[in-house]
Amino acid sequence: MAIQKVMVIGAGQMGAGIAQVCAQAGFDVLLHDMNTEALEKGLKNIEKLLTRAVVKERITDKDKTDTLNRLKPSNHLKDAQSCDLVIEAVVENMDVKAKVFGDLDVFAPKHAILATNTSSLPITEIAAVTNRPDQVIGMHFMNPVPVMKLVEIIRGLQTSDETYQAIEEMTAKLNKTSVEVADLPGFAANRILMPMINEAIFAVHEGVASVEDVDKVMKLGMNHPMGPLTLADFIGLDTCLYIMEVLYEGFNDSKYRPCPLLRQYVKAGWLGKKSGRGFYQYN
Ligand code: NAI
Repeated sequence: MAIQKVMVIGAGQMGAGIAQVCAQAGFDVLLHDMNTEALEKGLKNIEKLLTRAVVKERITDKDKTDTLNRLKPSNHLKDAQSCDLVIEAVVENMDVKAKVFGDLDVFAPKHAILATNTSSLPITEIAAVTNRPDQVIGMHFMNPVPVMKLVEIIRGLQTSDETYQAIEEMTAKLNKTSVEVADLPGFAANRILMPMINEAIFAVHEGVASVEDVDKVMKLGMNHPMGPLTLADFIGLDTCLYIMEVLYEGFNDSKYRPCPLLRQYVKAGWLGKKSGRGFYQYN
């Protein structure tokens, strides 16, 4: 089955990025959000990023026009009826995702693959609300989607080889590199990244070094492009805490204990860049 038309559900920072790369790769794309304002904002962001790419001579003006022509807004999940692949990127909440997948199972044609961009929720559990668990899969893009090359492809317990292959081929067409990952808490990316960020927060909490110096250690000592605390602010401290909780509870292992300082910052509303304050202050 060749994938030609894609629907992306959720037009936030991830969904808009996913819709953009799919349209740039030549797929017809429907972008849906239950919130009309979010949908408009997502589409505007895509246009802005494409315009910037033209200015920087990364793409031509025609590429931009063609991409935007392939991208259409959708106001109803029912529009999934014309799609071969649906990629869900709504909020990280099992109840919300379960409802979306239940509806998609009704609206999307029988052959369609249903993928989720979840960063931590079990694919097997999301698949279980549908009558096609063999056609449900994790397609975990990295943020910002147009820039980052990696996609983790996560197999649920019942994901078929055909579904896996179709998504692996699709990912290659998006000019991304994929890795195959099992359906365990944090998958691979967050299982490795988040404990490092959490440990960096412990280092600050225990007075090992200052925020700036912890970041310097990893940037200048380990050649990371960004320090772990800068990165945590960028991801969002609430998201970091949420993923640490998933690891802690999922493995029932104290090595994933979220740092008390991280909890305190989240309680204070210091969520990182998006709230104006995290480990650093933003204007
Ligand atoms: P976001 O909050 O920017 O966007 C979510 C969008 O989904 C919002 O526009 C909201 O209106 C919409 N939405 C919520 N419920 C909906 C529903 N029932 N139907 C249609 N639209 C609905 O969130 P973000 O950051 O884009 O995350 C989306 C997903 O991607 C989450 O599962 C997250 O864990 C995952 N993810 C996030 C990354 C990040 O760095 N932010 C990285 C990789 C994955």
